[in-house]
Amino acid sequence: MDRVNATTPAASSSDDPARAAFAALRTPEGEQLLAELRDHDPADELATATRLRRTHPAELVSAALGQARLRQRAVAKFGAEDAYRMFFTPNGVEQATRTSVAAHRAARFAGLDVRSVADLCCGIGGDAIALARAGIPVLAVDRDPLTAEVARANAEALGLGELIEVRCADVTEIDTAPYDAVFVDPARRGGRGRIFDPEAYSPPLSWATAAALKAPRAALKIAPGIPHEAIGPEAEAEWISDGGDVKEAVLWYGEGFAPGAFRATLLPSGAALSAPAPLPAPPVGPVGRYLYEPDGAVIRAHLVADLVERCGGRLVDETIAYITSDEPYSSPYVAGYEITDELPFSMKRLKALLRERQIGVLTVKKRGSAVEPEELRRRMKLSGPGSATVFLTRVAGAPTMLIGHPLG
Ligand SMILES: C[S@@+](CC[C@H](N)C(=O)[O-])C[C@H]1O[C@@H](n2cnc3c(N)ncnc32)[C@H](O)[C@@H]1O
Repeated sequence: MDRVNATTPAASSSDDPARAAFAALRTPEGEQLLAELRDHDPADELATATRLRRTHPAELVSAALGQARLRQRAVAKFGAEDAYRMFFTPNGVEQATRTSVAAHRAARFAGLDVRSVADLCCGIGGDAIALARAGIPVLAVDRDPLTAEVARANAEALGLGELIEVRCADVTEIDTAPYDAVFVDPARRGGRGRIFDPEAYSPPLSWATAAALKAPRAALKIAPGIPHEAIGPEAEAEWISDGGDVKEAVLWYGEGFAPGAFRATLLPSGAALSAPAPLPAPPVGPVGRYLYEPDGAVIRAHLVADLVERCGGRLVDETIAYITSDEPYSSPYVAGYEITDELPFSMKRLKALLRERQIGVLTVKKRGSAVEPEELRRRMKLSGPGSATVFLTRVAGAPTMLIGHPLG
């Protein structure tokens, strides 16, 4: 791999208050403050700040408190062990890939014997860290000087400094030819929040796609809501959920991937479903004894028809991703329910039925209904020892309530 010394831009950290504050955090005094703040209660922040300011400079105390807050937020993505050793910026923690997803992606590259990756738009290093942990040397590039410094600090803090070379530069100026693969995670947030137009990403999706097509292998992280028409035929598209929530989508390019295929991967199990091409529309029919809610990654990858076939079922409505069948079916890709009642939508009827059955705990699921679950629960005035699940949906176009309970 082409090893170039880590570069910092011409301006030094002393010209930039945010970088100066970050540098102060990495001194022994800063490290000690951060260690002290590890388990602090955010509710006591004012009292903690007042106490610490008696013995430490005020700017250092506020930088440490800010970093402690970011670390607490980062635990959900990185786990406590890593999060309390790492550093973050507010944007960095927001945009970083969670460990589970980054590790899955890194494992796919490692499985194809990829030996070096240019991580273009590395942020605070979420993906670079996972790639390095999979044994792959990484060039990690970000044009924001503070973010690049934070990525470098993270590589060092996690003992990965030998495998991650951080460069502060514009990715459009990087020669990726020496690398086995490129990974691009464009910034999808700007000053005004989330950016929906892929050409407004930084760098634009068209640039990222061109960079991906030039490399022997590549991965592009994209928003899970990307329209399928925007995905070129050269890419394998993968939607990834973790714990049932869709986290992101990734486009894979190059040898070892399946151009044109759509794939859904469920973490933490890693169960993966895929189809080489768009599937024909599944059958639609009456609600049977069982109802299945596919994982969001399966829905996004348009693979519901595959599950319909596997369970010998049908959809309850051609526009709704609820599958129904007459036989029980078990699969990691669906949550199954036994349906006891099917009624036209009516708050009044639902309330009467729940009262009669003494339902005190109601889980509300909906697809194709504008009703707010919280509002519905409030209006039901639930009481009693029983529990139930209600699906607010459309059946053959008609607003319908399906009542039941989870299988197993
Ligand atoms: C979505 S974040 C990357 C998150 C990263 N994958 C992680 O897991 O931590 C995108 C990053 O791209 C950087 N960026 C945007 N445009 C860039 C460009 N033209 N050159 C280099 N970096 C850029 C931003 O500064 C931001 O840190």
